Amino acid sequence: MSKSVKKVTVPMFRQAASEGRRLTMLTAYDYLWAGIFDEAGVDSILVGDSLAMIVQGHSTTLPVTVGEMIYHGRAVMRAVQRALVVVDMPFMSYQSSVSEAIRNAGRIIKRTGADAVKLEGGAIQAETIRSIGRADIPVMAHIGMRPQAVRQLGGMGKIQRDEQQLLDDARAAEDAGAFAIVLELIPEDLAGRITESLSIPTIGIGAGPRCTGQVLVGADMLGLNTGFRPRFLKQFGDLRERAQTAVRQYMSEVQGGQFPGAEHSHR
Ligand code: KIV
Repeated sequence: MSKSVKKVTVPMFRQAASEGRRLTMLTAYDYLWAGIFDEAGVDSILVGDSLAMIVQGHSTTLPVTVGEMIYHGRAVMRAVQRALVVVDMPFMSYQSSVSEAIRNAGRIIKRTGADAVKLEGGAIQAETIRSIGRADIPVMAHIGMRPQAVRQLGGMGKIQRDEQQLLDDARAAEDAGAFAIVLELIPEDLAGRITESLSIPTIGIGAGPRCTGQVLVGADMLGLNTGFRPRFLKQFGDLRERAQTAVRQYMSEVQGGQFPGAEHSHR
């Protein structure tokens, strides 16, 4: 790591809530994009299990394995100098027993060198969050719309409105030692109240502006994954269109004999 880069640590991230700093987080799954986001200065990179959809082409996050998360986490870690890197624990890597959860969290941290793991659930995963924390592995919780619960919820994208359950989940995750909580698809007023009730940062996705920070899927906000247009998503770029324009230009120049030109050829 170069000397001028000050790495974002879990304590620094955690303190954002009390310091009134708004945190930025994006998902990345490989060396190239993680390097771009890190250089741009994002506070945190999430190696999300959304890679099952964005990279692997599945319709849910369920199929991705611990081994695949490690593979992507290692690639991301080779690029990142500053951002806090969090790796998702995939479906069925922590639900069956606490000891299996600790083993898998340990495997992810040992093999990738990432800063923390993320898992879905609040009250129901409190014991697991506490036990992984006791193994000195920082845990980010994720409540509200939990993509790994897609079967129980009856589909992706269902807004969570059970106020008391969500307040209890957030409190349980904080009490169990989570250093931050993702709030996904929670009405903005409730997300604001959850944020105010906690001392750890909340990271919203579809949860309005009163969260401590925001997370988006990198490919979605750049306009690379244009098939997904939920209300909460703002596209900050149109990279799919720009990439296709460049590819068409390349094809046209190859087909028309303009590329490669003399300047691109060895003599
Ligand atoms: O896997 C993921 O990308 C996530 C974010 C949407 C928070 O969990």
